[in-house]
Amino acid sequence: MSLNLQKDFPILKRRVHGKKLVYLDNAATSQKPKVVMDILQKFYTTMNANIHRGVHTLSEESTAAYEAVREKTAKFIGAKSAGEIVFTKNATESINCVAVSWAKKNIKKGDEIIVSALEHHANLVPWQEFCRETGAALKIIPLTADFLLDLEGFEKLLNLNTKLVCVTGMSNVTGSIVPLKQITEMSRAVGAKVLIDAAQSIVHMATNVSDIGCDFLVFSSHKMLGPMGVGVLYIKESLIGQMSPYMYGGDMIETVEQYSSKYKMDYAKFEAGTQNVADVIAFGAALDYLKKVGMNAIEKHDRELFAYAKEKFGKFKTVKIFSPNNIKNCGPVLSFVVDGVHPHDIASIFDSEGVAIRAGFHCAEPLVRRLGVSSTARMSFYLYNTKADVDTAVKALQKVLKIFKVKN
Ligand code: ALA
Repeated sequence: MSLNLQKDFPILKRRVHGKKLVYLDNAATSQKPKVVMDILQKFYTTMNANIHRGVHTLSEESTAAYEAVREKTAKFIGAKSAGEIVFTKNATESINCVAVSWAKKNIKKGDEIIVSALEHHANLVPWQEFCRETGAALKIIPLTADFLLDLEGFEKLLNLNTKLVCVTGMSNVTGSIVPLKQITEMSRAVGAKVLIDAAQSIVHMATNVSDIGCDFLVFSSHKMLGPMGVGVLYIKESLIGQMSPYMYGGDMIETVEQYSSKYKMDYAKFEAGTQNVADVIAFGAALDYLKKVGMNAIEKHDRELFAYAKEKFGKFKTVKIFSPNNIKNCGPVLSFVVDGVHPHDIASIFDSEGVAIRAGFHCAEPLVRRLGVSSTARMSFYLYNTKADVDTAVKALQKVLKIFKVKN
């Protein structure tokens, strides 16, 4: 395995139930390198002040540090300028912002929104609610038997009423990777805008919005080594002027009179009130870390590890894995069930061995039901995981089989 980064992540020294922690719940949230935590400490120790509000040194320094992360984020995703980046509290808020600020003005009864059958609740529920309120129709891109998006099925759904297509970059349940450029080109052919939920995909693969050609792209800091409480919303520059604010208050205004106000026209109209300054600045340190390791190296590492885990778990006849056959089509997320054992019991037994995995619907209930099960156990890998971690997970699986007397 090419990467050896465990030393950078203090939490990985922790023991759980007397065993070395093996953290395989990265699709839920990633662990943080020390450099990210150090920046938080540094911010509050040396620089803490509100941004955009003062002429004193601390405020100027914190403003500059915050805005530098906007620049860094724009570069990280290949945006044209920092003006296309809005900071929110998470990917979910970013999607809801698009629903309120763009869709409410541009989508009405009779129009159609397409989402995919792979979506996390964050990219499904806001659109269900939007359609319920406006009378627009919600259409779902079906899946192939191999857990991939059925592009022929997608083509059949597209028509001149399609106003918005919302897809994930990578499923948090099956790991299925979505061909974002192709989806965007097909959508643009009927004049639809495209929103990408990159919360899972951007963590493992280089992402370039200019290359994809999408209109909106959202993701969360906490899944990519940064702190919780910071989300990103990329908005194509040409759309910002057409959008209205979705929250009102300080810092997003140009002028305020007693009975009316004028709002800022650029990204600032979406950042009302005091922002999560320290965490945005620490997110910048996470981006620096990822850049230093290199997204291509991370993708290679994660793919190798996933292939190793899939091979090891695939040897157990009583284990059913839900992921695309071709490893090229999936990210490092391995959902599985064991005949006769509830996934929550699997997760508890793994925990007793120090192995953190998730069990349940993974905030994607329709997708999990479509797999024909009521829940799955899920291991998800990241840049600090090793083959030894997978071997420990295999031992935990053997313990599950032993306790439940499952014959292989
Ligand atoms: N979306 C996160 C997960 O898949 C919370 O676990």
